[in-house]
Amino acid sequence: MSQEILAVYPGSFDPLTNGHLDIITRSSKLFCKIIVAVTTNYNKKHTFSLDERLRLLRESTKDLNNIEILSFSGLLAKYLEQIKSFVVIRGLRALSDFEYEFQMALMNRNLNKKIETIFLIPDQSYTFLSSTMVKEIAMLGGDVSCFVPKCVEEELKNKYQKK
Ligand code: COA
Repeated sequence: MSQEILAVYPGSFDPLTNGHLDIITRSSKLFCKIIVAVTTNYNKKHTFSLDERLRLLRESTKDLNNIEILSFSGLLAKYLEQIKSFVVIRGLRALSDFEYEFQMALMNRNLNKKIETIFLIPDQSYTFLSSTMVKEIAMLGGDVSCFVPKCVEEELKNKYQKK
């Protein structure tokens, strides 16, 4: 049954990390198709433009054949109604993620009762990882090669080491 489901993995991916990639790879084995839906998180000031985030995601997932990288603006609940998919994937790194994710899942269900959120747990080596931390390390000249795909590492170097 789940093999026929189209699921959506929404996020800001600013930038994509190996932790996100781990969730994408895991979901690609569970569902027939995954849309990675990139958007602007209005509570954050993004470092990478939407086009850059889309490009890095496309480059990093090119070997997975059931993944599509798209963008949306506005409410996730409206976007899901538009594409007729009501399964949302989110990653849970640690207990500290739970409150925010729980609130978001219930709010989305309140906006549309058809929406179900499925939480996947990334490999334990990624549970401490965050995009903000990766950006800070890169900005300060640290090595981020084990935290992000190669193309993201290069883009981080371009962004911070030219300054
Ligand atoms: N491994 C490592 N890090 C991970 C991770 C994983 N598996 N999953 C998440 N993270 C980290 C990210 O690096 C990121 O770190 P940061 O806070 O330092 O940037 C953070 O956790 C969450 O990022 P991400 O999952 O990319 O996106 P988000 O939390 O910014 O996305 C949206 C939230 C986009 C899904 C939400 O804001 C949304 O739905 N917006 C649309 C508008 C809407 O409908 N709003 C009402 C919602 S109820």
